[in-house]
Amino acid sequence: MATKIILDVDTGTDDAVALMTAALSPDIQLVGATTVNGNTGIDSTTENTLRVFEWIGMPQVPVHRGMSRPLARPQMQQLNPASRIHGDLLDLPPTTLKPQPGHAVDWLIDTLLASDGDITLVPVGPLTNIATAIQKEPAILPKIPEIVIMGGAHDHGNSTASAEFNIWLDPEAARIVVNCGRPIRLVPLDATHRALVSTEDAGRLRALGTPAGEAAARFVLQRIDGYDATQPMHRAGAAPVHDALAVCAIIDPSVITTQFIPVDVETGGELSVGRTVCDFRFRSRRPANVHFAMDADERKFVAMLLDILGRTA
Ligand code: BDR
Ligand code: CA
Repeated sequence: MATKIILDVDTGTDDAVALMTAALSPDIQLVGATTVNGNTGIDSTTENTLRVFEWIGMPQVPVHRGMSRPLARPQMQQLNPASRIHGDLLDLPPTTLKPQPGHAVDWLIDTLLASDGDITLVPVGPLTNIATAIQKEPAILPKIPEIVIMGGAHDHGNSTASAEFNIWLDPEAARIVVNCGRPIRLVPLDATHRALVSTEDAGRLRALGTPAGEAAARFVLQRIDGYDATQPMHRAGAAPVHDALAVCAIIDPSVITTQFIPVDVETGGELSVGRTVCDFRFRSRRPANVHFAMDADERKFVAMLLDILGRTA
């Protein structure tokens, strides 16, 4: 049976691939998408999300506009450097679609409360919407079977030496979510950097001849250009597509390798703010709360993208 999910996005090139993967996978029922400030401002992340659904011929997926600022650090937005990995607006035609009326946080609360406790949350941007929903209506918690997050880093950060972007942009929100008491899977940079998509793979995606394959090829090539220039990976001509790996981990959990450990988020450190502090040796005496992915299966990931993005609505 298909897994019901809500994808919370700050679209973004890799969020776009995640959206297409979730929308087109026969193993996922995409209940809706919520947008958040992150890779770019909320107007653009919402427009980009709608562009993706219109492009792949799925205008029926509801998109709900969410939080426009981090919980406690509005200045973080200015610290986010304009990125050639994402740009502001995606390289897809402007959309004629509109977001649903109302706020994403209220829709999340209403949808979860009305559910049978069978909707997995998949945040792949800063955790502002999810944390706000938990704070506003804690009764949603028992309704959440699992939260699968793209975020965090143990070995090395990307926004700072210590921190990964999604957690760094809103560390207070991330701290609320990882400590919320529900099952959490974190797909951090340690895993996403092990599953790169190459220039040759982009050619294969384009050759699928589908709208999703064409868009994914475009975004992967844009990402490779940005990564090679600004954050080279262990091999050139290939880039992570972080958010899509989190979606694939729902379809096939074996695409990542996890350890169940205590994880918390640093909100105070001058050099370490936004760090996911991983207690691999249980020194904190805290119980494990997070299934933290330290590795990923690149071949399986790319094969899944080629299979799913070769489909049409
Ligand atoms: C995360 O940050 C964003 O730029 C990407 O969309 C991804 O969710 C990677 O650090
Ligand atoms: Ca993202």
